[in-house]
Amino acid sequence: MGIISKDIGLDLGTSNIRIHIKGKGIVLSEPTVVAINKITGEILAVGNQAKEMVGRTPDNIIAVKPLKDGVIADFDGTRMLIQTLISSVIPKSLFSKPRLVVSIPAGITDVEERAVQGVAYKAGAKDVFLMEEAMAAAIGAGIKVEQPEGSMIVDIGGGTSEMAVLSLGGIVVSNSIKVAGDRIDRDIIEYIKQNFNVIIGEGEAEDVKKQIGAATSAMTDEKMIIKGRNLTSGLPQTITITTEDIKNAMSDALYEILRVIKLTLEQTPPEIAADIMERGIVLSGGCSQIKNLDRFINEETGIPVFLAENPENCVLKGLGMALDSIEILKKTTLARKR
Ligand SMILES: Nc1ncnc2c1ncn2[C@@H]1O[C@H](COP(=O)(O)OP(=O)(O)OP(=O)(O)O)[C@@H](O)[C@H]1O
Ligand SMILES: [Mg+2]
Repeated sequence: MGIISKDIGLDLGTSNIRIHIKGKGIVLSEPTVVAINKITGEILAVGNQAKEMVGRTPDNIIAVKPLKDGVIADFDGTRMLIQTLISSVIPKSLFSKPRLVVSIPAGITDVEERAVQGVAYKAGAKDVFLMEEAMAAAIGAGIKVEQPEGSMIVDIGGGTSEMAVLSLGGIVVSNSIKVAGDRIDRDIIEYIKQNFNVIIGEGEAEDVKKQIGAATSAMTDEKMIIKGRNLTSGLPQTITITTEDIKNAMSDALYEILRVIKLTLEQTPPEIAADIMERGIVLSGGCSQIKNLDRFINEETGIPVFLAENPENCVLKGLGMALDSIEILKKTTLARKR
């Protein structure tokens, strides 16, 4: 091994792809998007560049999310994305094959798991370790996963929400559902369609969720003016949306997440469940930042809830911490089946 480390942590998220290099920390975070020429199928750009390209270029260039609901939907697009971004952060001359640790959602099928490994090997990795996203999130959130006391992490991202109870470096119970940021955005679009007869874009839906969305209507009721298109006339229209609207629009998704949190607790052995009652639930992932979400889960479960620091980066930070300690890496990654 030279002075430049070749150990890479890769958080291949549905919304964002993030890269950590051992010894350097987080070196990259870009949207999980590829720009494709619709006619030739050629991949023209990835990440930020792909996102910027769309709308400013001819109609035949479209943006595609190569991951859907936490798993790879477009193999070539994902491989290009990983390859391009990894080579952008590692100088070419030093790009001998890196060791990769990649996060995956709990409960992905063997086929999906092999797709992740396949993409990573094809993108040039020498070795690929897989770690469950919830395990990585817990480590990154600062939970001492190797302790015997049980702890619980809930990572709410773009494609999936992961719930896991951990103890002694292992996952005791875990569940993963395809209800997270993307589904919430879709529900907001549907709600506005039904209640205002206006269609808005995914970007607008995401903006209102982040800016005025809240899980409970405690505190202020904010307003936001957004642009859409009237469904009847087809003409542009501006509407005023309130926190209450977004709370209602998000309600089904949030109760679904809550249901699986409760289910996970029910599946937990009583001694460990008692630890969690006392120590609380830790939230991570981009969507854990929805206002009052911690309060909502606390009120509905009666268990203390804490929001992790930099919740969006917990998974990547956890992967990085595992790379720093071969012992943690061995203990927390899944057995490789290559
Ligand atoms: N301040 C915020 N408030 C509410 N939601 C937010 C905020 N910031 C980001 N999000 C949402 O978080 C989601 C992205 O989270 P994250 O980056 O953790 O997902 P991911 O890791 O790419 O996805 P996954 O792990 O599900 O594959 C998006 O839906 C985004 O709209
Ligand atoms: Mg994630």
